[in-house]
Amino acid sequence: TRPLAVGLAGLGTVGAGTLELLRKNAELIAARAGRAVTVTAVAARDRTRDRGLSIEGLRWYDDATALANDPAVDVVVEAIGGSEGTARATVEAALAAGKPVVTANKALLAVHGAALARTAEAKRVPLAFEAAVAGGIPVIKALREGLAANRFTQVTGILNGTCNYILSTMRDRGREFTEALGEAQKLGYAEADPSFDVDGIDAAHKLAILAALAFGRPVDFSAVHVEGIRNVSALDIKLAEDLGYRIKLLGMARWTEAGIETRVHPCMVPADYPLARVDGVFNAVVAEGDFVGRVVLEGRGAGAGPTASAVVADLIDIARERHTPVWGAGLADLSPVPSIPMENR
Ligand code: HSE
Repeated sequence: TRPLAVGLAGLGTVGAGTLELLRKNAELIAARAGRAVTVTAVAARDRTRDRGLSIEGLRWYDDATALANDPAVDVVVEAIGGSEGTARATVEAALAAGKPVVTANKALLAVHGAALARTAEAKRVPLAFEAAVAGGIPVIKALREGLAANRFTQVTGILNGTCNYILSTMRDRGREFTEALGEAQKLGYAEADPSFDVDGIDAAHKLAILAALAFGRPVDFSAVHVEGIRNVSALDIKLAEDLGYRIKLLGMARWTEAGIETRVHPCMVPADYPLARVDGVFNAVVAEGDFVGRVVLEGRGAGAGPTASAVVADLIDIARERHTPVWGAGLADLSPVPSIPMENR
């Protein structure tokens, strides 16, 4: 069988990580996918930047939508980021051309997921996004496949590695907020605009995706209640600790008779609750299903390696020609369940 030709749109943390992983583990990936998975074309703004990787022999595009339309590209990996602009145009161009898309872009999916899913399902091409939520943790697969028989009552998680790293570092090493944020940025965990991390927006994007999958309905992103960690001080953390709690930024989605409740805010978590012990860049998701009960998934939620691991898992699925409906068949056409305003909760 001929190799699956991957077009990589974006060569930042995620794109470069994906290229490196596909090269380093090429043999085992080919064995598991049933054929080689090879990057043949790349789109990025700056050709000269040193990424520690050779880009020799790859077709280079300045324009990611042109890469999406390259007839020699079988599948497009969108690692540009942002809910609008080039990222959105690239995903739309690829789907319109009938090409599978793998994206790590939670902002795009939280805002335009239902519309993109509709296009993908109409074209019968996969739109895969394991990397968009909780980095290397296979939470999308878990909800959509391993736990698919359950009715979910709630999904809760630590969904932002940067915030969790900051809160853990403030607690364990007595760092100040800005210093801890600087470290997270150096490690490649933070978003291009770190206010997305520290103001809870990134966690809210991921929560909206999880809620849509868990409850089988599109979620109105603008109705998610969002509060970040800027106002959490080292003293708050210390006082919470003295009372037997850890402060964590949690995303919570609950199904109720009145609608879906979705919120992101700092929480006091009892020290013996599973999420209390999740520290550093780790994320965790707790899903409650009516037959399975509580399932806890934990792993690295940000950074090049974990995110690339999830992107490549999706590429392997595509190489094997497994097709899972994007949100669940027909879901994109359902109207959103009303979101409960915060004051009525
Ligand atoms: N900035 C995100 C985080 C990256 O810190 O979790 C992964 O989506």
